Amino acid sequence: MNKQIEIVENDITKLHVDAIVNAANSSLLEGGGVDGAIHRAAGPKLLEECRTLKGCKTGEAKITKGYNLYAKYVIHTVGPVWQGGNLNEDELLSSCYKNSFRVALENGVHSIAFPAISTGAYSFPFERASRIACNVTNEFLKNELTMEKVFFVFFSSKDFLSFIKIAEQYF
Ligand code: AR6
Repeated sequence: MNKQIEIVENDITKLHVDAIVNAANSSLLEGGGVDGAIHRAAGPKLLEECRTLKGCKTGEAKITKGYNLYAKYVIHTVGPVWQGGNLNEDELLSSCYKNSFRVALENGVHSIAFPAISTGAYSFPFERASRIACNVTNEFLKNELTMEKVFFVFFSSKDFLSFIKIAEQYF
């Protein structure tokens, strides 16, 4: 396994990294799942800053400070809602990872942690989403030496173990 990759079973809000990625909705306000956990851990100032961003389109990414989190930044990205696979879902999910990496580099981030974007409330099939995450990350790391660590963070052991099996084929 590539030494830049760490796969962990944890709550993403507990990680000591430069930036954690949030699987947000396009309003960047009032979410559940990982978004709710991030807002609870970061404190109310995160929502205040999110209000100034005027939302985020699917596939794009915007950055805020991390406030009470260990992470200095939160990169908010909006994954696609799974609708069967013929509505550009794969490309949009790829864009989430690409744009999160781009925003990270623009802000001097050397370690970043991703949750399994779109695989909860947005119902993207887990294996398909994992392959997209691995593919984009693999391509990104080929050309990028300043990113020291990329964490993939899973809330359940089932997801954690499935991802390890898939990731072994890429890294
Ligand atoms: N740490 C790591 N992973 C987590 C955590 C956590 N604390 N909590 C949940 N997960 P979801 P989506 C996992 O639904 O599918 C929100 O309401 C979870 O088990 O958070 O992109 C937003 O506001 C799943 O594997 O994100 C949007 O409305 C993964 O994170 C919508 O849900 C993603 O699940 C976005 O849906």
